[in-house]
Amino acid sequence: MILERNNLFNIHQMENQLRDSDLQANLQDFKALMHLYLLRRAAIKEIGTKLENLDDEYSIAHQHNPIHLIEERIKSPSSLFEKLTRKGWDFTIESINKNVLDIAGIRVITNYLDDIYQVVQTLIQQDDIKLLQRKDYINHPKPNGYRSVHIVVTVPVFLADNTHKEIPVEVQVRTIGMDMWSSLEHKLHYKNFANHERAAAHTAKLKDYSQKLYDIEVGLQQIAKDIEKP
Ligand code: GTP
Ligand code: MG
Repeated sequence: MILERNNLFNIHQMENQLRDSDLQANLQDFKALMHLYLLRRAAIKEIGTKLENLDDEYSIAHQHNPIHLIEERIKSPSSLFEKLTRKGWDFTIESINKNVLDIAGIRVITNYLDDIYQVVQTLIQQDDIKLLQRKDYINHPKPNGYRSVHIVVTVPVFLADNTHKEIPVEVQVRTIGMDMWSSLEHKLHYKNFANHERAAAHTAKLKDYSQKLYDIEVGLQQIAKDIEKP
């Protein structure tokens, strides 16, 4: 398993980014904003560690590592600003805390389909984890063919005064195939084709490939299961 921690994990970089952002200009309370970011960052590390531990334990108990890769990222102040603007939410700490649940984001790339549900189930069953939201885009793919399971969970983060806060983290779980598909679809989404027919052809193909990839992953899963049998 590979763990990728984004460069925003350096506190000084985070502080500089926040100071430079439009967000800072619109929010009076810089210290509170910095604290909010620090708590979200702490929550990512808590969940990231839980996932690493689960993967290690699976490898001993079942000779199988469900997780191929974990990517952690903090929403940049500029995309937070963009999201607040787009959704028409207030530029206050209270509003960010209440509305924006994906400042802390973790993407878990699994080897097989079943691993997705295994990882989600074992994570949300832990005593200190609360499930706030669950979207199953595998059983219900988006119209463009996007597949993944998204959950928002909270994890307690302990503060210097020994109290704790429940901090939200968005976890996206998908297979290697779904991840490959999403990366390409993401590129297509942000590319402005002058020729609309060309774009439409790519979109249609991607939708078709999403189903094909799914069928292949079901087949690979069956082979993997069969090989594990004595
Ligand atoms: P926002 O959080 O405002 O983006 O809207 P939402 O809460 O309705 O989004 P959702 O939970 O469905 O998806 C959030 C994240 O999932 C996005 O930021 C992307 O990372 C990913 N995602 C969702 N839909 C797609 C898609 O169609 N294609 C790709 N490539 N990624 C997607
Ligand atoms: Mg979202």
